[in-house]
Amino acid sequence: MFFSCGLQSGRFLPYGLLPADKGEIAMLMLRAKPPESWLTKVMANLDAVLVDHAHLERKAAQSALKLQRYQQLSGSLKELTEIAVEELEHFNLVLNLLDCRGIALGQAISSPWISGMMNSVRKGRNEQVIDHLLCAAMIEGRSCEKFQLLSEALRPVDAQLAKFYGDLVVSEGNHYAVYLLMAQRIDKNEAERRLDYYLTLDAELVVQPSELPILH
Ligand SMILES: [Fe+2]
Ligand SMILES: [Fe+2]
Repeated sequence: MFFSCGLQSGRFLPYGLLPADKGEIAMLMLRAKPPESWLTKVMANLDAVLVDHAHLERKAAQSALKLQRYQQLSGSLKELTEIAVEELEHFNLVLNLLDCRGIALGQAISSPWISGMMNSVRKGRNEQVIDHLLCAAMIEGRSCEKFQLLSEALRPVDAQLAKFYGDLVVSEGNHYAVYLLMAQRIDKNEAERRLDYYLTLDAELVVQPSELPILH
C-alpha cells in the first residue's frame, strides 16, 4: 500500500464528518501509483485538465443518480441524492473557475482507465449493483488521491488552484467510503472479494501511459 484514502485515514478525513456507523470501513489501499508522467502531463495541461475535471464532476452527479435505479439501494436514496447534489456543487465550482480563467468548456474526453473499470461490471442481480458501486468508489478514491497530489504540486505555482484541489480531497474520500459501505451492506463478502479484484485491475490500468490531458 502506498496511499490510503478513507475514513480511518486521519490525514484526509476528519472522523467527525460521517456518522459513527461508517467508522468500521476499510481504508482504500491502492496498489500502484500513477506513473510519474501523469503529474508532468497534468501540470503541463492545466486548462484542459480543468475542462476534464468539470465533466468528471458532472458525470459523478449523474452516476449517483443512476445508482438510484437499483432496488437494492432503495434504502440509500437520500445518501445518493446528497452525493449527487455535492457533485453538482463541485461541477459549479469548476465552471466558475473556468469562467474566471477564460477557459471554454470543451468536449469531454473518455478515459481508458474509467472505461476499463466500468467494462468489467458484471450482469446479475447483486453482481451488477456491487460492481457498479465499487467502480464508483474506485473513481472517487483515485480522485481523492490525485487531487491531493495535484494540490501539493500546484502549491508553489498556483496557490488558488492548489487550495481548490486541496479542498475537494475530503469530499471525494467520503464519497469513496460511502459507496464502498453501500456495496458491503448488500453482500459484505462479495463486496470485499470484488474490491480485491478492482484494486488489482486498477493497479494494472493506472500505470498505462496516456497522453490524454485528463485526470484519469
Ligand atoms: Fe466531486
Ligand atoms: Fe465525488
